[in-house]
Order: sequence, then C-alpha cells, then structure tokens
Amino acid sequence: MQVAVVGAGVIGLSTALCITETCPSCSVTVLSDQFSPNTTSDVAAGMLIPHIYPDTPIHRQKQWFQETFTYLFAISNSAEASEAGIHLVSGPPKEELPFWSDIVLGFRPMSEAELQKFPQHRFGQAFTTLKCDCPPYLLWLEKRLKATGTQMYTRKVADLWELHREYDIVVNCTGMGAHQLVGDKQLFPVRGQVLKVHAPWVTQFIRDGDGLTYIYPGIHRVTLGGTREKGNWSLSPDAGTTRDIFDRCCSLEPSLQGAQDIEVKVGLRPSRQSVRVQREVLSQGGLKLPVVHNYGHGAGGFSVHRGTAKEAAVLVEECISALQASSSRAKL
Ligand SMILES: Cc1cc2nc3c(=O)[nH]c(=O)nc-3n(C[C@H](O)[C@H](O)[C@H](O)COP(=O)(O)OP(=O)(O)OC[C@H]3O[C@@H](n4cnc5c(N)ncnc54)[C@H](O)[C@@H]3O)c2cc1C
Ligand SMILES: *[C@@H]1O[C@H](CO)[C@@H](O)[C@H](O)[C@H]1NC(C)=O
Ligand SMILES: *[C@@H]1O[C@H](CO)[C@@H](O)[C@H](O)[C@H]1NC(C)=O
Ligand SMILES: *[C@@H]1O[C@H](CO)[C@@H](O)[C@H](O)[C@H]1NC(C)=O
Repeated sequence: MQVAVVGAGVIGLSTALCITETCPSCSVTVLSDQFSPNTTSDVAAGMLIPHIYPDTPIHRQKQWFQETFTYLFAISNSAEASEAGIHLVSGPPKEELPFWSDIVLGFRPMSEAELQKFPQHRFGQAFTTLKCDCPPYLLWLEKRLKATGTQMYTRKVADLWELHREYDIVVNCTGMGAHQLVGDKQLFPVRGQVLKVHAPWVTQFIRDGDGLTYIYPGIHRVTLGGTREKGNWSLSPDAGTTRDIFDRCCSLEPSLQGAQDIEVKVGLRPSRQSVRVQREVLSQGGLKLPVVHNYGHGAGGFSVHRGTAKEAAVLVEECISALQASSSRAKL
C-alpha cells in the first residue's frame, strides 16, 4: 500500500512515524511545501500543557495527552533526549485544577517561598512537564522516518486528487493549509508572536494569568510570549508587540533584561472547535480516494501530537482493510 502523508509539521511527521510502526508493509511518503525550520511547529514553544478543544470530549483529549506524555517521557529518560530536544521543566501555572493535573508530574500548590516571586498572586500551583525543543524534535522525527525508508519530497499539493494515481491512501496533516486545500471554513488562524532568546540561567518556566505571558526555557533557547490574535493572517513580526512581550516577561523575570540574541518568530495556530481526526472517502467520476484527516490542533499540537498520530494510524489501517475487502470482492 502506498500512503502519502501531506504536511511535515509535528503532526505530519509523527503521523507518518506511527503509520510505519503500525503498518510496516506500507510504503509511506511525506509530501510538504515546507519542512523544518519553516513550519508553524518550528515557532512553537513545544510545552506539554494542553489547550482545551471545546467540541472534543475531555476523555479523548486526556487520552491523547497521556499517550504523548508517556511517549516523550520515555525519550527524556533515554540517550536520545538531547538530540530529540526533550527535557523536563518545572514551574508554576497558576490555574484552577486542570483535567491533566494527574498526568504531569508533581502537581501541587505553590509554597509561601515560591509565591514571594509573584506578589500580585495569593495562590498558585507548580508542576513539572515536558518540553520539545524545535527544530531539534522535528529533525529527530525526520531522522527516524528516514531510517524506516520513508521518502520525503518538497511539494505543494493543490488538490488531493492529484495524488490519486500514485497513492492508495492520503493523510491530510496540513495544519492551516487545510483552509485552502479542503476548504474547511471551521478552521481559523490564531496568530502568535514569540521571542526566542539566549538566557541559559533561566531554568524554571513561568506562565501568568491565562497563559498569555510566558517564559519557557528549552535546552538551547528560552521562548518568551506571547500573543493570541484570532483571525489575523499576518506572518510579519510587529515591533510594538516585540517590545510589549519583552516588557511583560521582564516584569515576571527581571533577569531577562540581560537576554541576548533575540529572534522574533510568528506562527498561525491552526484552530478549530475540535481537532479533526477522521476518515473520509472522496469520490469523483466513479473514482474513490480514501483520506484520513489529522489537523486543527490549534494552540496545543505538541501536547497531543502522539495521541492523535496513533489514532490517525489506526484509521489508515481501517482504510487498508476496506481497500483489501473491496479488491477481493472485485476478484470474485
Ligand atoms: C507562538 C506559538 C506557540 C505555540 N506553543 C505551543 C506549545 O507550547 N505547546 C503546544 O502544544 N503547542 C504550541 N503551539 C501550537 C502548535 O505549534 C501547533 O498546534 C502545531 O504546530 C500544529 O502542527 P501541524 O503539523 O498541524 O501544523 P504545521 O506545523 O503548520 O505543519 C503543516 C505542514 O503542512 C504543510 N502544508 C500545508 N498546506 C500544504 C499543501 N497544500 N501542500 C503541501 N504541504 C502543505 C506545511 O508546509 C507544513 O509542513 C504554538 C503555536 C504558536 C504559533
Ligand atoms: C526555509 O525557507 C528558506 C527561506 O525561504 C529557504 O531558503 C530554505 O531552503 C527553507 N528550508 C527548508 C528545509 O525547506
Ligand atoms: C486537508 O483537509 C482540508 C479540510 O478538509 C482540505 O481543504 C484540504 O484540501 C485537505 N488537503 C489535502 C492535501 O488533502
Ligand atoms: C494583524 O496583526 C498585525 C501585527 O500585530 C497588525 O499590525 C495588524 O493590524 C493585524 N491585522 C488585523 C486585520 O487585525
């Protein structure tokens, strides 16, 4: 079976990897107009802190997060950790008890001493979670895929039907690209601007209020954020926003005044009321093309990527069974 995965962000690469694991006899090809470091996934902080999808049942979101956490936790405890850019970070989130409090490590109320750092707050909670550094994590996924024999080509797919001669099944992991490609009007961009800085002395993460201002230390760089601008398609950095983010982060962590090598990045979160992980059979003029969708991860793609990739791989297996059943019927 020839399977094409369209998209090479964290969702496309992890979905392709899960397909090679669940279906070793499939020949998987990744087609994408952009690869790391040019995807939205490269802009992200890559923190495992779930974002809530209002129209996806919580138990499903929790399972996706659990699977992703377990997968990355194993990598963080292996010799691959540094190359894959996966590490544990601790810090205070200051929130109500979230649904994922029993999946992250050591979720607890902050102590008096910890609270002294946040004079404007009387209450807070601390926990330890995982963080994926990007690009390293995307490059690690690409390397794993190449080791399985997966081909990767730079190609913009204007219409899924152009793949039908070469591939039996198409997997759609195009993120915001699905807006044009499938014409999904439920998908909208939420623009995010961040700064990536050199400040190796910052080792604890901080997020304030509703999570709009955050400081997320990675292995190499610290991500400072952020913004959430619904419906804005602009990929150009805004200088006023850069100053505002820097000021907000310095008021939480004054030592950031000494940060160096400031790089500004913008990404469009592919947002939807629910993630679309779904099978569909497209038909046109008597032809049929099985498609598995896996897009619309919004502000939380890293947090659930492995869980949705596994689910998409199961849907690919279902497509294969359906194709095999119909070809054996045709032979009768
Ligand atoms: C500022 C910011 C911070 C974030 N921080 C976090 C965080 O801390 N934790 C977290 O969990 N999430 C975070 N996110 C969200 C996360 O980045 C996204 O949910 C995730 O990257 C979505 O991945 P994706 O693979 O679906 O999309 P993308 O990374 O955008 O990948 C889509 C791929 O599809 C390709 N493509 C699109 N259309 C076509 C086409 N027609 N033909 C061929 N190829 C096509 C693109 O080239 C690209 O390779 C953040 C996002 C932003 C913007
Ligand atoms: C990323 O984009 C830059 C600028 O357009 C381009 O030069 C580079 O080749 C791209 N990288 C990849 C891996 O596609
Ligand atoms: C992906 O799905 C979206 C939404 O249905 C669609 O617009 C787009 O054409 C699809 N892309 C591919 C490559 O299938
Ligand atoms: C989009 O965001 C940019 C940068 O913040 C801003 O300059 C622009 O006015 C915004 N556009 C819209 C339509 O809101």
